[in-house]
Amino acid sequence: MRVAVTGATGFVGGEVCRAAVAAGWEVHAFGRRLADIPGATYQYWNLNGPVPRLSEVDAVIHCAAAATDAGRASQVWATNLLGTRRVLDAFPHARIVHVSSASVYDPFRPTVRAKEAEAPVARYLNAYGASKAAAERFVLNTHRDTIILRPHAVYGPGDTTLLPRLLENIRGGRLLVPGDGRARQSLTAVGGLARACLLAARSTLTGVFNIADSDTLSVDEALRGLLATAGVEATPTYLPTRLVLPLATGLEAAQRLCGRPRRIRLNRYVISQLAMERTLDITAAVDRLGHEPTPTSFTYRN
Ligand SMILES: NC(=O)c1ccc[n+]([C@@H]2O[C@H](COP(=O)([O-])OP(=O)(O)OC[C@H]3O[C@@H](n4cnc5c(N)ncnc54)[C@H](OP(=O)(O)O)[C@@H]3O)[C@@H](O)[C@H]2O)c1
Repeated sequence: MRVAVTGATGFVGGEVCRAAVAAGWEVHAFGRRLADIPGATYQYWNLNGPVPRLSEVDAVIHCAAAATDAGRASQVWATNLLGTRRVLDAFPHARIVHVSSASVYDPFRPTVRAKEAEAPVARYLNAYGASKAAAERFVLNTHRDTIILRPHAVYGPGDTTLLPRLLENIRGGRLLVPGDGRARQSLTAVGGLARACLLAARSTLTGVFNIADSDTLSVDEALRGLLATAGVEATPTYLPTRLVLPLATGLEAAQRLCGRPRRIRLNRYVISQLAMERTLDITAAVDRLGHEPTPTSFTYRN
């Protein structure tokens, strides 16, 4: 099997490359940073720039994205939608495994054992959710041989996204978190996601599949587990939504007026993710794709 992996320098793409190499596949890895991906050929490719010389592949596992809840909206759209278009144009005959996100579900109401058909929706809180939803639509409408995977809150060794954001919110031994810590969450182990990507690349299924662990846990359990993997002693301290939501709304409005793209840590997206249930129905992935989810586990070190 010959596979191209975009975002190979990232958290998910890196794990996908390792899994594909371990499976004996020919792996063509792409990213922007200088990198050495053992067992794979690695090439620089900024999805918003010129397309490098590409080898023919059977499947593309498209992990590259601006995976951020802030940043300039234009850059997020350029990477997540236009970049995805570039990938499809560059590999017109390959099967596409598009790594999307559970951020395409409605951020304004709880996601309760959500089935795939419940998204995309008409409204989002930031460019990330909106651009990932637009990319899904684009891929499904333009490329016949396509499968879309929607993970939520990916965790594991080498986490570049979830854990660093938690650590930056610790003040004096307290991790400040919106909500009450009781909202249920589906998390996705990075190893399980990588295995699902390989299953998706090999299969002939098309459509959209949620990918998550076999169980759900509360925000408080998830946060304590994630902090333990980093060996950090901090106590989650919960901030009532009725207090933080007006504050976040005001901060975002002020930022729009100033036109400054600085990241606001307390924003409505973060509140919507942590203060509301975000659980996924993974029946389709298990029954049809052969996804073998494991219980969420924090028995690793970051
Ligand atoms: N982590 C999560 O919790 C989570 C949850 C749901 C969905 N996802 C999805 O999983 C995928 C991977 O996320 P991740 O957590 O692995 O993020 P990550 O660690 O930030 O990796 C992002 C990757 O995309 C590449 N990239 C960004 N902009 C690019 C551009 N303009 N051109 C080419 N490459 C570009 C980066 O390359 P360089 O670093 O070399 O610049 C990096 O390899 C994304 O599609 C994300 O939406 C992640």
